[in-house]
Formats: sequence, structure tokens, C-alpha cells
Amino acid sequence: MAFKKSFAQPAQKRVAVLVSGGGTNLQALINAKTNGEIKNAKLVLVLSSSPTAYALQRAAAAGIPAQVVSRKQYSNAEDFNAEILRVLQAHRVQVVVLAGFMHIIGSALLNAYEQRIINIHPSLIPSFCGVGCYGLNVHRMALERGVKLTGATVHLVNEEVDGGRILMQKAVEVLDGDTPETLQKRVMQHAEWQILPKALEMLCREL
Ligand code: GRF
Repeated sequence: MAFKKSFAQPAQKRVAVLVSGGGTNLQALINAKTNGEIKNAKLVLVLSSSPTAYALQRAAAAGIPAQVVSRKQYSNAEDFNAEILRVLQAHRVQVVVLAGFMHIIGSALLNAYEQRIINIHPSLIPSFCGVGCYGLNVHRMALERGVKLTGATVHLVNEEVDGGRILMQKAVEVLDGDTPETLQKRVMQHAEWQILPKALEMLCREL
């Protein structure tokens, strides 16, 4: 009996990307998937907490199923989290990426996806992180403190805001005359969009 050579690849992890806004980090993941940089992950769902998030248009253009779970429709965080978990499980999601998702992940979700939820944060943790450190605030704080280097961090998500194990970081120079806006743009381009696909690929390869 002749042996059939097997070219079977290890199964790609089924990944959901949770968003609330513009979705440039989602786009970086889509691009990395298209150009082959991401091999061990399949983007199977985009879940948005806002019906007007531009990220939904990016998902549609890439042919990724999308679903809105609007925070406003739930009176408390537990019910909101429970619905997110239900949607993730309905899509047989194995790994979750928070890419500009503006809500705290509750314990039900954390338990269901222990060590399998990652977040991108626009600073070099442990600087400028924790409660209240999001969006332009982070870059404003970096400029006020006068740091010469900032950057971005991909970390695992646990019950502490921005407190989970760090998976990847990249530094970016602060330049004279930077505003929160110019710094945010440079950090996104040169750090966030670079390390988020790499960290996702690394995690999915190791799982
Ligand atoms: C990024 O700066 C990310 O680091 C932070 O939220 C922002 C999301 O931007 N968590 P986008 O929606 O990916 O463009």
C-alpha cells in the first residue's frame, strides 16, 4: 500500500477582533492576513460595540462577518459581557483581539478565554497605562512627562487594566514639536500596526 504524503497544516486559530472605532489596527491584521504574515490565525468575526464604527466597513470590505453588540442596549456590564461571550461561542472563536475596544472585559469572558485575549495599548507599559489611559490621553501624558521614547505594547488581558503579561513592545521616538495627535499617528504607524499582527501570529502558533 502506497503511503499518501500528508501536507496537512495545523489548524488556524479562529480569531475575533473586538472594536469600537476606526479600526486601523483591525486593518493591519487584515493586511497581514492577506500578505501571508499571519498564517496561524483566521479572522472569523469582527465584533463592534458601536453600530457606527468605521471598523465595520473595513470588515465588510474584507469579507469578514461582523456583529454589533451595543453597550447601550444593556443595563449592566455583566449582561453586555454575557452577550459578547454568546456571540464569540456561536462563531467558535478561540482567540480574541481587543483592537480599540473601549470596554472592560468581565470575568465571564476572561475565564472563558484565559490567556487567549490580547490587547494593543499605545504606550510602553508600565508607563502611561491603567484606568483612564486611553486614546489621545496616553500621548498627552507622555508629552507632559517629557519622555523621549514611547511606543506600543501588546499584552494578554487579565482582571487588571493593562496588567496582563507583555507579549511584544516597540519603541517610537518623541520628536520636538509633537502634539498628542502627531505622536499618536507615529505610534500607530511605526509600532501598533507592526506588532499587533506579529503578536497575534506568535500567540496562535504557540497555542
Ligand atoms: C489604538 O491607539 C489602540 O492602541 C487603542 O485604541 C486605538 C484604536 O485605534 N487601544 P483603531 O480603532 O485601531 O484605529
